[in-house]
Amino acid sequence: MRSYIIAGNWKMNKTVAESIALAKEIVAKTKGISKTEVVIAPTYLAAAKVADIIKGSNVKLAVQDIHWKDQGAYTGKVSVDMVKEIGAEYVIIGHSEQRQYFHETDETVNLKAKKVLSAGLKPIICVGETLDERKGGKLESVLTAQVDGAYKDISKEDALKTVIAYEPVWAIGTGVVATDEQAQEAQKYVRSLVAKLYGESVAEALRIQYGGSMKPDNAAGLLSQKDIDGGLIGGAALKSDSFFSIIEAAEKS
Ligand code: PGA
Repeated sequence: MRSYIIAGNWKMNKTVAESIALAKEIVAKTKGISKTEVVIAPTYLAAAKVADIIKGSNVKLAVQDIHWKDQGAYTGKVSVDMVKEIGAEYVIIGHSEQRQYFHETDETVNLKAKKVLSAGLKPIICVGETLDERKGGKLESVLTAQVDGAYKDISKEDALKTVIAYEPVWAIGTGVVATDEQAQEAQKYVRSLVAKLYGESVAEALRIQYGGSMKPDNAAGLLSQKDIDGGLIGGAALKSDSFFSIIEAAEKS
């Protein structure tokens, strides 16, 4: 049985002080959560402070990206050892905003995923199509290229430690959520791609989140779909009430 994983991606929102306050609220609210894995991804700047706040709680730390190099002259970048040191467990990789604005490609997603896994951390690998790609009948070919690219040269054992977030680009931050059926269909396809690469047992065990305008009012429907194992939440993760409502929906599902 796959457990739910609900992750809040705070993106470039919240100052350090605001991050601390939000993390405290989430820790307090999630005290009784037992089945659902709860993850928050603040900015790098706030990550170490947030790590201290969530220590011993039900909340785990993610960061929003890393560089695949160990160290050196890479201005503006953060290495996996740096985020491991402060206690991060997950790293979001290949988010569509990284792909769209910061030249992320399937190759760099793969380099980052391998680096994260080699450090003993777990990547949340984001995939998803744009509206033009969906309208142009390219949903399956886009997802295939992204999944095959991300998992190149990654072993079965390591693949099992990964999470995939299916995030249709047209649903991210737009308020336009995929219908339960659209999301389920795409997620089932993503799982079939994992099965092709690693076999049925890995595909059955690997968790696939949905992301893109998941909110308290649509979470229960999405999370009840067979191939949706959680959510990667942007906007609704910026307030503890709405984030917790989604966690509760997972816990009850
Ligand atoms: P959203 O963002 O929930 O604001 O649509 C989701 C994401 O980008 O992970």
